[in-house]
Amino acid sequence: MAIERTLSIIKPDATRRNLTGRINAKFEEAGLRIIAQKRIHLTLAQAQKFYEVHRERPFFGELTTFMASGPVVVQVLEGEAAITRNREVMGATNPANAAAGTIRKEFALSVGENSVHGSDAPETAAVEIAYFFSGLELVG
Ligand code: CMP
Repeated sequence: MAIERTLSIIKPDATRRNLTGRINAKFEEAGLRIIAQKRIHLTLAQAQKFYEVHRERPFFGELTTFMASGPVVVQVLEGEAAITRNREVMGATNPANAAAGTIRKEFALSVGENSVHGSDAPETAAVEIAYFFSGLELVG
């Protein structure tokens, strides 16, 4: 297995409830290293650009309004098979379907307010990391 990097976002429902540290602990316990991290407040336009691939989905407006509703923590996670491993740690998109011990099972409020985002493939990880971070900010 190769060392990979993936983009993670701790969403506004989680920052609002002061869960950043508990979520980061889940990543670190799974062997993922946080090699870049910053807390930002997205504008609606920035959220819409990030989720451009979902523009035609019925939930696009709800999703982007929510992502711009409060601070998020954007971060780059690095480790063995980091993209898959992070998705395992996050759990299913809908917390009702998430396995015990996953972030979404423990913390998510709904399919929309689901506490974390993680890249779904190497190509999207590269694009999503570059959306938020310069190479100089990735300190592995
Ligand atoms: P995320 O991994 O950030 O990628 C797209 C997001 O769309 C997803 O997590 C969910 O939070 C959100 N999403 C998916 N389905 C729905 C839905 N039916 N209603 C609201 N948001 C949704």
